[in-house]
Amino acid sequence: MSESIQQLVLDTLNAQGSIADTRSLTIPGESVMILYETHEVISHVLTAEGAQIAHEGSHEARVWSVLPLKGQGEPVNPAQLKKEGRAFKNGWVGKEGAGFVKLVTEIKDVTQLDLKEIEQTGAPAAGEKTLADLRKRKLIVQKKGQWFTVKKGEKFSTSIAKPETDLTAEMLASGSWKTSTYKKYNFDAEGVPTSGGALHPLLKVREEIRNIFLEMGFAEMPTQSFVESGFWCFDALFVPQQHPARDLQDTFYLSDPSHSLPPKEDYYNLVKAVHTEGGYGSIGYRAPWQPEESSKLLLRTHTTASSAHMLYKLAAKCRGEDVDSDDREFTHGGAATSKANDNLAAKDDGFRPAKLFSIDRVFRNETMDATHLAEFHQVEGVVADRNLTLADLIGFMRVFFSKMGIEQVRFKPAYNPYTEPSLEIFAFHPMLNKWVEVGNSGMFRPEMLEPMGFPKDVRVHGWGLSLERPTMIRYGINNIRTLVGHKTSIENNENSPAVMF
Ligand code: PHE
Repeated sequence: MSESIQQLVLDTLNAQGSIADTRSLTIPGESVMILYETHEVISHVLTAEGAQIAHEGSHEARVWSVLPLKGQGEPVNPAQLKKEGRAFKNGWVGKEGAGFVKLVTEIKDVTQLDLKEIEQTGAPAAGEKTLADLRKRKLIVQKKGQWFTVKKGEKFSTSIAKPETDLTAEMLASGSWKTSTYKKYNFDAEGVPTSGGALHPLLKVREEIRNIFLEMGFAEMPTQSFVESGFWCFDALFVPQQHPARDLQDTFYLSDPSHSLPPKEDYYNLVKAVHTEGGYGSIGYRAPWQPEESSKLLLRTHTTASSAHMLYKLAAKCRGEDVDSDDREFTHGGAATSKANDNLAAKDDGFRPAKLFSIDRVFRNETMDATHLAEFHQVEGVVADRNLTLADLIGFMRVFFSKMGIEQVRFKPAYNPYTEPSLEIFAFHPMLNKWVEVGNSGMFRPEMLEPMGFPKDVRVHGWGLSLERPTMIRYGINNIRTLVGHKTSIENNENSPAVMF
C-alpha cells in the first residue's frame, strides 16, 4: 500500500470513525487494501463485440434493419449481408427465393437492451439466465471485485510505527525497549517450505523399473554412449544397410566428427560376410555393402546398440579372448539359475549366462506430437543362456510385466531384423478399456549372435519398451510435452509422488 493510501485511510478513519465501503475512497489507478472485513462483488463487463452490440444493435437487428418487408421490395442477396446472428431463430428474417426479407415490421432487440443495462449497472434485471446466455455468446465477461470494511483498531494512531521484531543491543542500551511495541509471535505460522531437488517423474519410474530388474538378478549395462556407429547400431544387429530406419529421415547422423574408427577387423569381416553372403544357415541379404554406412556416426536409435556391445563382450571368452580390450564393464547376473551351470563341467566353451538391462535415452528423427519426441528413454533387457526357448521369453515377459503391475499381457507376431521370432507385447489398459502396445521383443538371430562367437546352443532373448509410456499412464499425463521440455511444470514435478508398482 502506498503512503498516500495509508494516509487517506488513516485520515478518513480519524474524521469518520469507520469506513463502511472502501470503494468510496477512490484513488485513481490504485485499489484500497485494508484487511479487516472482505466483501466480494461480482459484476459484468462487455467484451468488444458486446460493446458494439450495445451501441449499434445485435447482428440480427442490424441485418433485419436493412431488409425490405416480405413482398414489398427486392429480397437482398445474403452475400451482401453481415452475419445474421439469431435473425432466423427469432423469426425476424425469412428467405424469399435466394434472398432475405424481413418478416415482421417491428422488433425488440433484447440483446442490445440487456447489454446496455449491463454496461450501465453491471448486471441486468433479467438475472442469471440472461447473464449465462450472454457469457456463452462471449458478449460479456464476469469481473470479480473486492471491497473492505475498515474500522479503527485498538492501537489506532494516525502515524505508522512499525512494531519491533527483534530486541537489539541498541534498544537495551538506550532503554527504548521499555516503550517499544513488539510484534507478537505467530505460533500458527507455517514454516518456510524447504527447498530441495526433486526427481523428475521419468526418473522415479526409472528407479522403480531398475529395482524390478535388480530384484530379478539383472546387471545394469553401461549406456553412456549416446553416439554409436552404424556398425554397432545396425550392422552388428543384422539390420540391412538399405533398411529404411537407417535413412536420414529416421536417424540423426553426426556431421563432426562424422565417422568412427574401424571396429575390430575380424568381427567386422564376419558381420559383413553374413550380410552379403550369409552363413550360419542363413543366405544373408546379398545386397551391396558399403564400409561408409558402417562407420557413419549417429545418435543411437535404440539401446539395443548398447546391448550389442555387451553381448559381443559377453562372447569374448567364447572367441578365445582372455582380456577384452573393450572398455565397457558390466557385472554378471543370473548365473545361479542358469541352465548353463548344469553342464558346465561337461564342456567349458567360455560361455557364461547373463541377464542384462539398461534404461537410457535414444534418439529418432520423429515428427513431434502429443506422444512422440525426438528423444525418449528405452527400457531394455537381454537374457543369454543355453537353449532358451520362445516359451522362456513369453514366461519371462509375464513375470516382468506383472511386477510392473500389468497382469494381462498378449503377444503378437512382429518383425525386427535382429530377432526371429519377434513379438509385440500388448497389455490391457483398464482405464482406457483396451489393449495397448507396451513393448517389442524377440529371440536374437543366429546371424547376429554367431559372428560374435556365441556357441550354437546359446540363445539370447531381448525386449524393449519406452519409459515415457508407463510414466504418462502412471501420472495421468496425456501430452508428452507436459512431461519433458520447457512446458514441464516444476511444481508438478516437485509434488508428484514416488511410484510403486
Ligand atoms: N530395439 C527394439 C526397439 O527399439 C526393442 C527390442 C529389443 C526388440 C531387443 C527385440 C529385442 O523397439
